[in-house]
Parts: sequence; structure tokens; C-alpha cells
Amino acid sequence: MPRIAVVGSTNVDLITYVTRMPVPGETIEAPDFRIGCGGKGANQAVAAALLGAEVVMVSKVGDDAFAETSLANFRRFGIDTTHVGRVPGVSSGVAPIFVEPSGENSILIVKGANAHLQPADVDAAAADLAGCDLILLQLEVPLDTVYHTIRFARAHGIETVLNPAPAVPLDRDVVTEVTFLTPNRSELALLTGLPVTDEAEAIVAARSLVEAGIRSVIVTLGAEGALVVEVGGVSRVAPVVVTPRDTTGAGDAFIGAFARFYAESRDIAAALADAALYAADSVTKPGTQTAYASAEEFAAAKAARRG
Ligand code: RIB
Repeated sequence: MPRIAVVGSTNVDLITYVTRMPVPGETIEAPDFRIGCGGKGANQAVAAALLGAEVVMVSKVGDDAFAETSLANFRRFGIDTTHVGRVPGVSSGVAPIFVEPSGENSILIVKGANAHLQPADVDAAAADLAGCDLILLQLEVPLDTVYHTIRFARAHGIETVLNPAPAVPLDRDVVTEVTFLTPNRSELALLTGLPVTDEAEAIVAARSLVEAGIRSVIVTLGAEGALVVEVGGVSRVAPVVVTPRDTTGAGDAFIGAFARFYAESRDIAAALADAALYAADSVTKPGTQTAYASAEEFAAAKAARRG
């Protein structure tokens, strides 16, 4: 089984299902609320682990009850928590999330302990990271730590996937050292400074990053699938049509599943097709990690789709 490391965030998601969002100054009633484990890093780790990868998590939790919830959750999925540290006197990361009847979500993140994940924490995990097939990164932890990990991976010949979310300005020189970049349209526009309003513009922007050194830029297009831009050309990941109930964490399901399948097969197109199906299945269920299928459930969903 592939061995995957995630250097990233751990949150607790506070999910309110709304009939509509309130306007400023307004109080309205919402029909449902759930609490669950989340954070882009943790979600990607859980998706990969559910699908059978060995996963090492490098992260920080705080000094509160949510810390134990998150640690117990990682252990439940067999994720190695040796490098998940606790930060005294600080809250764990939390994400108040609002899900509308269409399944679309709005998310606030409070970084809490995630803001304390330092390059030194990556160095402390170096021996374990060096034995991994792939390292996954997102942007809910300090950028210095993300950049340090990219350089570490490069120096050790380990492939990396950077999910540049949430969108923040990045050091392009460091980012172009990753193997896979998975921006959505707005993240791609911010990173390149180029307009990304349609597919042709997305290809031009992604190609500028490939020319700078990234092997594959995977532009995620939500319900429209994804575009893959590489030196050899452009290909598409076909959308998987489902009726969405809750899209929270679908992008993370896609990346965690891609990492798991790619790390084993090294077949980018096949891994992306499976990841698209895994993510689509997740949006049909409520919650973040609670919507992620196990390997057995995914195999059944795949067989059902083939008919
Ligand atoms: O991508 C979804 C995730 O974003 C949620 O789990 C939330 O915690 C935020 O990190």
C-alpha cells in the first residue's frame, strides 16, 4: 500500500444547514446542525486512509476538547499521529460552515493551533516523511511551513501535491517546485495574475505554471470536472453527475483519493477518474469526512456506475 504524508490542518467543522443565509442584522432559524472532523489536511488524510493508504499526519491541535476529538478521529482511521502536536493555551482549528439547500457551502476558518505548525515540526518528522511516496499540502497552515516542506520533498525526491486553498498570494518560485498543483479557477487566477474566466484562459494560465516547472496542473472545475495541463498537452477529467446534498470537503475527497490511487499506480488519468467518482459520491451525503466512502463502499459505487 502507498505511504502518504499530509502536512496540513486539522479542524472541527461546525456545520449549520440553512434554508438561506441571513442578511446583516437578521436572525433566522436553521433546520439542522452537525459537528464533525474537518480541516483540508485532515480531510485529505482521511480520504486516503479510508481507501487503504498508510497515512502520516503532520499537524497541530489545540488545548481543548476538540483536540482529543481530532486525535481520536485520526486513530480511528489508522492514521499515524506521532507528529500531531498539541499547542498549550490555544484553541484547536474550527470551521463554522453554512450549507444551503443547493448543497453549496460557505466556510469560515479559525486557524487556532494550525497557525503554530512550524518548519521545525516538519524537520522533526523528517525520517518518517522521507519514507513516503507522496506528500500532500494545503494552505491552512503557515506558508513558511508549506514552502519548507516543498523544498524538503524536492531535496528527497518525493513527489508533492499542493492544493492552493484557501486562496492566498504565493511565492511562485517555490510553488513551481511541486509535482501536482490543484487550483480551482480563482486560485489559478490569483497565482498566475492571469484572467481565468473560461476554459481557454484556464489552459493559458495553467500552461504558464507548467512552463515554469510544475509537472501537472489539475484545474478543478467543480461540477464540470477538471482540466489537466502538462507538457504533453491538455486532457479532461469528465464530470460525474450527481444530485448534491452537501459539497463540503468534496475537493479534499478528490485530492486524498487521487493521492492514494496515483501513489500506487502512477497512472494520473486513471487516478483522477477514480478520484472524481469518489468526490462525487461524497457530495450526495451530509457532512465532511462523514460523507467519505470506505474502500468497500467505493468499490460498490464504482461497480454500480459501470452497471
Ligand atoms: O475543504 C473543506 C474544509 O475546509 C472543511 O473541513 C473546513 O474545516 C475547512 O478547512
